[in-house]
Amino acid sequence: AIGPVSDLVISNKVISPDGFARSAVLAGGVFPGTPIIAKKGAHFKLNVIDTLTDNTMLRSTTIHWHGIFQEKTSWADGAAFVTQCPIAPNDSFLYDFKVPKQVGTYWYHSHLSTQYCDGLRGALIIYDPHDPYKVLYDVDDESTIITLADWYHQPAPSANGGLPLTSQATLINGKGRYPDGPAVPLSIINVKRHKRYRFRIIAMSCDPAFTFAIDKHTLTVIEADGEYTTPLIVDSIQIFAGQRYSVIMNANKAVSNYWIRANPDIRGLPGFDGGRNLAILRYAGAPEVDPTTEYVSTKPLKEVNLHALFQPLAPGKPWKGGADVHINIAHTFNFETFHYEMNGKPFIPPTAPVLLQILSGAQAAQDLLPSGSVYSLPPNKVIEISLPGTGIELGGPHPFHLHGHTFSVVRSGDSTKYNYLNPVRRDTVNTGLSDGNATIRFVTDNAGPWFLHCHIDWHLELGLAVVFAEDIPTIKNANPPRKHFYNFWSYGSEVTDPF
Ligand code: C2O
Repeated sequence: AIGPVSDLVISNKVISPDGFARSAVLAGGVFPGTPIIAKKGAHFKLNVIDTLTDNTMLRSTTIHWHGIFQEKTSWADGAAFVTQCPIAPNDSFLYDFKVPKQVGTYWYHSHLSTQYCDGLRGALIIYDPHDPYKVLYDVDDESTIITLADWYHQPAPSANGGLPLTSQATLINGKGRYPDGPAVPLSIINVKRHKRYRFRIIAMSCDPAFTFAIDKHTLTVIEADGEYTTPLIVDSIQIFAGQRYSVIMNANKAVSNYWIRANPDIRGLPGFDGGRNLAILRYAGAPEVDPTTEYVSTKPLKEVNLHALFQPLAPGKPWKGGADVHINIAHTFNFETFHYEMNGKPFIPPTAPVLLQILSGAQAAQDLLPSGSVYSLPPNKVIEISLPGTGIELGGPHPFHLHGHTFSVVRSGDSTKYNYLNPVRRDTVNTGLSDGNATIRFVTDNAGPWFLHCHIDWHLELGLAVVFAEDIPTIKNANPPRKHFYNFWSYGSEVTDPF
């Protein structure tokens, strides 16, 4: 693990996490990337150094700190062509931001095209040394991180409009197997009988949602996407790309081995099943053999049953129409252009990042590129966004992620009910299938150009995104470091310093 003040070197390396060797894009030379571990209140100074040399994949990069609000530092959000230009090869970029209040389970990933599918994704955990809510869940050990990732044997298509790939393996903590591949070792999570563990589960997926379970054990959900929830006991969890959960697991079963499962749900596509999506929970004293346990789930997590521990009331008035601004963003797929469209517009990255357009004087959404994909939001208002779901044939269900905020999920993709009184708060929500709808509310208290996009990375690449320019007059006060502009001028050309 590295701390909040560190160099993070991005490099190419051939790795074979599932027994198949391929060149990958790595943070800290490993997959998943070196975990970044910080304490509440940390001032992050992460110097990202791009040493990429492999021309079969992108050699520029950016890094997004998924779930971190970036209050007053929207320039450090890492979204390529929204808040910055890509970092050029052989260059570096210092992400310098404070996280005064947030604690919990986050992650980081490349936010340039589909580059994170090639490996650039890792955990970011913020501990609260004086966690006032520890009494609620009483754990002996909270150090375990469980990362779930889809893994591909080819480089990700990165030209805008590239065809989605189907993954070969699921990696749990960086290990997994592929169909007819070698029986390489699986990840093992060691526990001691009668101890209670907080496991932090991160779906750092490019595409599938995973159904996560630990055979014979119940899981008490206490956190979703960095927000505490009232404890909810389940025995399996569907977790979408970009989402995180913390669960408490009591190691109160017989000393033995148990399968940990992360079955991908990739909208019925074949070539992805067969019990290879496994890791092992091993009690101290158990023999070093594979488990023989079976998967049974009678109490799957339903998002509608999850409630925020803090801020249980959704902002605005507790009824339909009770927000200040209502925005409905329907999405469709245009088979002629082969792009997704949100309210009729595909997101095509502009050459000048949205933030730089604003800093150079753009005043309103209609002045901002990409035209029709940028929505301006007034400050200090309650915003309600309605995101209708789509069928499997159009790639649904889609997990939508909003940068710069967490939001109250007043309607989730798995329910038709509206809940303004105690909905979960989070940063990535499943919009459900054709009859589904995710409706979210948040207060515009954080100026910045914030991406809202599907976290299936192939879909983002195909245009399934919009940008909210929140409080444009205040965004102008953003004071990016000089290097920010330097990267703007240097990208795609000779590196010349405009100053
Ligand atoms: Cu996890 Cu826009 O990102």
